[in-house]
Amino acid sequence: MKPEGIAAVKIGIITVSDRASKGHYKDKSGPAIIDVLQEYIKTPWEPIHQVIPDEQYLIESTMKQMADKENCCLIITTGGTGPAERDVTPEATEAVCQKMIPGFGEQMRQVSLKYVPTAILSRQTAGIRHQSLILNLPGKPKAIRECLEAVFPAIPYCIDLIDGPFLEVDEKHIQAFRPKAT
Ligand code: MTE
Repeated sequence: MKPEGIAAVKIGIITVSDRASKGHYKDKSGPAIIDVLQEYIKTPWEPIHQVIPDEQYLIESTMKQMADKENCCLIITTGGTGPAERDVTPEATEAVCQKMIPGFGEQMRQVSLKYVPTAILSRQTAGIRHQSLILNLPGKPKAIRECLEAVFPAIPYCIDLIDGPFLEVDEKHIQAFRPKAT
């Protein structure tokens, strides 16, 4: 809950799935992202969640809306990172970002290999659009915590560096690494 009168930080969550967007199954991964972030982030924040099909133009326009109009400092996608023809989330991310940060994808794949050998099939990446960090996660609900645990410690400082809001984390659940000024 956000205290009265204080604008909460906004975080965008985009579930990219043809089947979930048509109601053929219930989206579990978007809510899983919200659950993990509720544990990790102490600063008041509010999720803006959309479930959309695997259409590149729609993924791009949703990312742009969340970054440019809603001012989300962080936008997390789930799904569409694999090798199938309809998997285009990384392409959409690259198309809307001014800078890519490949280390996020490298770290998530490396940690995910402890859980599944198919981790290398995910082309998940991350990048910066203006003052928003966009991060891709795979579509499997269980991949959400596995991946966020691996990279979240670098996220608050990344948002500091792009002049976003200062995110305080709950150290009972996760540590944020902020290098000390020299
Ligand atoms: N990473 C984690 N941590 N856990 C997983 O279960 N599944 C993999 C991979 N990365 C997985 C994972 C599988 S099976 C696929 S096909 C790719 O993510 C791409 O998934 P996506 O197309 O749903 O994004």
